[in-house]
Amino acid sequence: MAVATRSSTFGSVLLSGLAISCAFTAAAQERIVKIGAVLPLTGPQQSNGIQIAAGISRYVAQHGDTVAGKKVQVIAKDDGAVADNSKRLAQEMVVNDKVNFLVGFGITPTAFAVSPLASQAKIPQIVMGAETSSITERSPYVVRTSGTLAQKSVIMAEWALKNGIKKVVSIVSDYAPGIDAETFFKETFVRGGGQIPEFIRTPLANPDFAPFLQRARDARPDAVFVFQPAGDNASFIHQYLERGLDKAGIRIIGAGDIVDDDLLYSAGDQVIGAVTADFYSAYHQSVMNKEYSAAMRKANNINQPNIMSVGGYDGMHLIYEALKKTNGVTGGDVLVPAMKSMSWESPRGPVSIDPETRDIIQNIYMRKVEKVDGKLYNVEFETFNG
Ligand code: PHB
Repeated sequence: MAVATRSSTFGSVLLSGLAISCAFTAAAQERIVKIGAVLPLTGPQQSNGIQIAAGISRYVAQHGDTVAGKKVQVIAKDDGAVADNSKRLAQEMVVNDKVNFLVGFGITPTAFAVSPLASQAKIPQIVMGAETSSITERSPYVVRTSGTLAQKSVIMAEWALKNGIKKVVSIVSDYAPGIDAETFFKETFVRGGGQIPEFIRTPLANPDFAPFLQRARDARPDAVFVFQPAGDNASFIHQYLERGLDKAGIRIIGAGDIVDDDLLYSAGDQVIGAVTADFYSAYHQSVMNKEYSAAMRKANNINQPNIMSVGGYDGMHLIYEALKKTNGVTGGDVLVPAMKSMSWESPRGPVSIDPETRDIIQNIYMRKVEKVDGKLYNVEFETFNG
């Protein structure tokens, strides 16, 4: 995948088509809405940042850079997925650039790091990527357009129970969303009579999966339930194959992040058959998604749009529609109420914002990796309405 490696490159990608002025008068400032995007554009989570940025770009390209009489300006900064950077960059954007929104957040610690600032500045924090349940509780100004591991892991457990999978080893990345995935999968699976002999947690940074996969294999489960963050799945799958788990009849099931659409091609054909639960597939069969997927592939340096991209795209929709409702008036105390209960059609299907939790309500789809027209896709076969 060709990727933008620095925020400046990304900035030009993201901002192409947007009018950028250098010096603003005070009156002109008032006619501008500023969106500060904090994204991992370098480092191991780079793919998440690039996908979110691509979703933001697509929305602006499609809907224009003016809303409710105001010009939209997106300022993007690369946090490299390091929480201290996210905090510092967000602070600079609030104080110096006077942004009206803080958006992005490719991984949970970066969203956590910025929520006190959203509260302090009383501006909306739109979480477009991170998926730990408790993020929305960190500030009343957080609204989420990605999803949660809880949503996916419960549905995955229910499907496994109904489909003859009785014994599972859980393998999750050892940080907040991984712990959520493990917890929610376990609750449903064990309550339904399933067995989990091993709970394995792998390091987030540079994991060597080989010893963990050997442990999983030795437990002789029907399947491994996996959560690894999107954008970094190929090495897990390669080591799963190298250790011969597939030949031992141990299936991969999990949150869809392990078969991230964008990088699925690099996993190879042996990943065909992996069953996962998630809220978006590049192969989602709606008119809107066919158009979205095609446009995303054409306009951006990505293979396929993934879950992160729709978080960015829908986050922009939420911002535009909230601004229309407030006639361009900004500030979290008017914008967040305008966002509550909003519903719309997304490339992923129908979505809405829960007025109590400010989290997204959406369908979760069961999908299986298949080859269609020579390419690997997550093909949806069952829908659980949100
Ligand atoms: C997260 O850190 O919240 C996160 C990152 C990547 C994912 C899912 C969740 O694919």
